[in-house]
Amino acid sequence: MHFAAVALALLALAPARPAAAADTVDPLADARAFQNYFTGKFPNVKLEDFVNGPYSMNADMRRQWQEIEQFPPYEFALEAGKEMFTKPFKNGKTYADCFPNQGIGIRQNYPTFDEQEGKVITLELALNRCREANGETPLSYVKDDMAALTAYMAYTSRGKPFDIKIPDDPRAIAAYQNGKRYFYTRRGQLNFSCASCHVQAPGERIRAEVLAPALGILNAMPIYRSEWSGMGTVSRRFITCNSQTRGVPLNAQDDEYRDLEFYLSYLSNGLPISGPGARP
Ligand code: HEC
Repeated sequence: MHFAAVALALLALAPARPAAAADTVDPLADARAFQNYFTGKFPNVKLEDFVNGPYSMNADMRRQWQEIEQFPPYEFALEAGKEMFTKPFKNGKTYADCFPNQGIGIRQNYPTFDEQEGKVITLELALNRCREANGETPLSYVKDDMAALTAYMAYTSRGKPFDIKIPDDPRAIAAYQNGKRYFYTRRGQLNFSCASCHVQAPGERIRAEVLAPALGILNAMPIYRSEWSGMGTVSRRFITCNSQTRGVPLNAQDDEYRDLEFYLSYLSNGLPISGPGARP
């Protein structure tokens, strides 16, 4: 049997949804129920500590992490990101011209909902749109330059609490609801939802990895992972997790992934940005 099938067979049986208004759309109530679920399940983990993913769940890993952080493996990406961010495009403009506050200290506000377009705009998407608006080719969403840029932007927001706004617009509510549906829908040959692992089994091990809790799960993005020998963005992590359950991943920045990121980020409102992160 596959590792996950053994370790997590029981998860297939239990409902993965923290008690919340199931059918009415009430994001604030969802967020409260979600946070209560995790703080109730892990009474010894401080709320703001959930942003440290697997390290918040496991003492051995926390020690490893403290060692890693002495020479953080994302340092290189951070430097590269800063340089890219400040270097003018061919037309003389920079990324700063595309963002509020010149792009500094704003990561906690993404994704935003664009009421003109009626869609969720993630930071990764906004960065590529900025490039294209200035005559540059878009970057790959999953790693390298995109990870470096988002690493730098996250770094300028470290400690700032996620502050995702859902405007009073039926399309915004629908996007949130769609993200929620995606998160709880089972898929792939193993028939897991995101929640099967990150809500029901945080702290448990799959192979050598300790599952991160869904609360605060995007606060440390982008992350360096030894298994990737490099950095990965939110897009990369979503795609990897979909593949892990032997499902067919979507394309980076598909509407559904954007809605999913909107939903998950909203649930972590109030928890501080801790990115970029490093994982073993
Ligand atoms: C079979 C279990 C499984 C499922 C299902 C799963 N993941 Fe994961 N996920 C993992 C593992 C293993 C890792 C790496 C260890 C960790 O950080 O949790 C991970 C890591 C992550 C991370 C990075 C967390 C961090 O702090 O490093 C994010 C974000 C994430 N998953 C999101 C998702 C989303 C969204 C879905 C649904 C599309 C999903 N996962 C489905 C197993 C799973």
